[in-house]
Amino acid sequence: MDAAHINGDLTRVLHTDAEIQARLAELAAQIDADYEGKDLLLVGVLNGALMVMADLSRHLTCHVRMDWMAISSYGSGAQSSGVVRILKDLSTNLEGRHVLVVEDIIDTGLTLAYLIQNLRSREPASLEIMTMFRKPDALQSAVEAKYIGFDLPNEFVVGYGLDYAGRYRNLRDVGTLEPHIYS
Ligand code: PRP
Repeated sequence: MDAAHINGDLTRVLHTDAEIQARLAELAAQIDADYEGKDLLLVGVLNGALMVMADLSRHLTCHVRMDWMAISSYGSGAQSSGVVRILKDLSTNLEGRHVLVVEDIIDTGLTLAYLIQNLRSREPASLEIMTMFRKPDALQSAVEAKYIGFDLPNEFVVGYGLDYAGRYRNLRDVGTLEPHIYS
């Protein structure tokens, strides 16, 4: 669905489907060049990264493998606590591999800070991060993503994998949610 199907739920559209796809094409070209001649493993973090993984991987012209992790953040409510439990681990041994973690969003950065530390201990040949979105004003941990789609304002944002109470992930566009929906 796109923004027109949920008319009234969004305060404003921040990035349309077309803008997202155009940005992904640019990032994919960069990734293609950076990993030329290398075997690349994309690691997606469920559930939010589903859309970006599907689209980014298809914009790439090099062969890639894909694997998935499911993690759960301890702590209450929507706030990341930084303490992460692995619900589903990778099936792939990372030792000696070139790994690109694919995320939908870096918010506080606490989830990825933990995850990167964990993945680094598995001794990959290289380890980088690609995120579709980042909220610079929410960042609490110095997580460095090499490939970044768009910076977002520190507001309640849904769409393109980002959910509110499990909904709106399948919205093609990304926008800020009307406060009356979550308050
Ligand atoms: C989201 C997102 C990141 C994390 C970022 O996942 O996919 O993994 O939050 O937040 P942080 O930078 O503040 O740590 P979420 O826990 O909402 O699960 P989901 O992917 O299933 O929506």
